[in-house]
Amino acid sequence: MRRVNARPSDSSPSALVVSDLTVHFGGVVALRDVSIDMQSQQIMGIIGPNGAGKTTLFNAVSRLAAPSHGTITYRGRSLLSMRTPQLAGLGIVRTLQGLGLWTRLTVLENVMLGAPPAASMVSDLLALPRGDRAERRRADEAMAVLEQLGVADRARAFPGSLAHGIQKRVVLARALMGRPTLLLLDEPASGLSAGEVEQLVELLRTLRADMGIALVEHHLDMVMAVSDRVTVLNLGRVIASGTPAEIRANDEVSTAYLGTSVAHA
Ligand SMILES: Nc1ncnc2c1ncn2[C@@H]1O[C@H](COP(=O)(O)OP(=O)(O)O)[C@@H](O)[C@H]1O
Ligand SMILES: [Mg+2]
Repeated sequence: MRRVNARPSDSSPSALVVSDLTVHFGGVVALRDVSIDMQSQQIMGIIGPNGAGKTTLFNAVSRLAAPSHGTITYRGRSLLSMRTPQLAGLGIVRTLQGLGLWTRLTVLENVMLGAPPAASMVSDLLALPRGDRAERRRADEAMAVLEQLGVADRARAFPGSLAHGIQKRVVLARALMGRPTLLLLDEPASGLSAGEVEQLVELLRTLRADMGIALVEHHLDMVMAVSDRVTVLNLGRVIASGTPAEIRANDEVSTAYLGTSVAHA
């Protein structure tokens, strides 16, 4: 049925397709018949009140939560038979809600750890001059990503010594090091100043040329500014999906958010 509305001229194939996904935790239904169709080079905002199922959706895609029903495919391949570590090989990279940086490693070392598993393995296996070269290449690449994000001057610093906004960029740099084709961002704007949020919006728009971005975010203005499409979850169900303008005009969405402060919505 969903396909009936697909435009025949639409040349970009779906990248991530979630169909009728249901996830239970004991008696709690965290997601019920959730369907999402995301194209490559698209920014998909995912919003909804606390407990709506946003994190569970990311967990299901990254194979940390097992659905009891439904399918998840990426570029036509089912993810349900795969394990979390295999996803990086498909280009699926996720950031966690917290920072998750290694405090005893420098910024550069943290970012280097985001390299695709294959690249790290080759340099590990070849503990020889060639391995050194691979390591150096990886460091150069990490520096380039840090430069892209405007934090190259902090490469030798330890994360704990840096302001929150800078640490968030390092987290993003580490994710980009995995050369994602699908980037799952969990609250990338949390704790950022208004100016930093604006810079993040600009950055995500630039990144969109190379990847699809799914964005779980409490910062509604930011989601509306940057997303091509927005999916709204409430109590485990999709209650609306569409362009930011369509979502703003949706009565059911306003009702779902009533009584919830926007800062926590
Ligand atoms: N590991 C878990 N065990 C039990 N219940 C969970 C677990 N993860 C999430 N839930 C429940 O599933 C529902 C959706 O949670 P979640 O996906 O974290 O929502 P959101 O991220 O939108 O705030 C909530 O009722 C939550 O309590
Ligand atoms: Mg959550």
